[in-house]
Amino acid sequence: MPIPLFERAEACGKVILLGEHSVVYGHPAVAAGLPQGLCLHAEPRARPDLPITLAIPQWDLDLELRADSEHPVARACLEVLGHCDGPVTGWALRGTTCLPARAGLGSSAALTVALARLVLGQDADLDDVVEASLAGERVFHGEPSGLDSRVAAQGGVLRFVRGAPAEPVALGGPLPLVLLPSGIPRSTATQVAKVRARLERRPTIIRPVLSALAAAVDAGIDAIGRHDLDALGEIFSVAHALLAGLDVSSAALDALQAAALAAGARGAKLTGAGGGGCLLILPPADPAPLLAEFRVHAPLSVEVHP
Ligand code: MEV
Repeated sequence: MPIPLFERAEACGKVILLGEHSVVYGHPAVAAGLPQGLCLHAEPRARPDLPITLAIPQWDLDLELRADSEHPVARACLEVLGHCDGPVTGWALRGTTCLPARAGLGSSAALTVALARLVLGQDADLDDVVEASLAGERVFHGEPSGLDSRVAAQGGVLRFVRGAPAEPVALGGPLPLVLLPSGIPRSTATQVAKVRARLERRPTIIRPVLSALAAAVDAGIDAIGRHDLDALGEIFSVAHALLAGLDVSSAALDALQAAALAAGARGAKLTGAGGGGCLLILPPADPAPLLAEFRVHAPLSVEVHP
């Protein structure tokens, strides 16, 4: 028999509402879990010495977790399994998801959290699950803040500061969001490195930009609590401009952001590492015309509830 796994485990996807990148430098961020991010199922293979396989058809993933693999997903998964004293052979893992991969919606954190839960159990201690997930996230992202893993494990809407317990955020009402995939994949590690390079080159300019992003987080949480969607939309758009100042937007994201505002959005910003991935839109009261305008981008409508 291989080392046992639970049959099934789940993790949330995530959308960062405000505070990406500045969170790396100890500032707060606010993010929401996207329920049903990823569900992993485990079945024993015919022989316990066969390598673990991982198939997630929606992400075009089908690989063996071999110790000598250079595939970052295989390396990250083996780090998570090693961290939890889980099996390294003998299982076939299969994932189902509605999340696009590499779109800034926390696909890697969902994978590492769900995998940790296959070993530790769906109801395992959140801190243990987050620590195990981070062992894998480091393979993907170098030095992650921990925000993605925390939201993937805990769900809900959270105010997160690196190294501190995450605080649930009170919502004054349902939060309608539209996610617009730009179709451009990006690397979180590259985007984080770009910000660090600009901070090192221009510290006196970039430090205040990071502080302004932190102020946007707390103003955004206040607007969420009062259900003032117009204020939140304006804060989203300001945050987009500040993130562009950190060099993490792109011509495609800027064009989509301007088009979203022209189509009546209350506000819009890049979400996650930027460079590509998704645009996060706070839609107008009637989102139908905006959704129709962006139909070719396959927009994703989400409502976050109190
Ligand atoms: C990536 O989803 C969020 C970043 O802030 C990086 C991190 O928090 O580790 C860009």
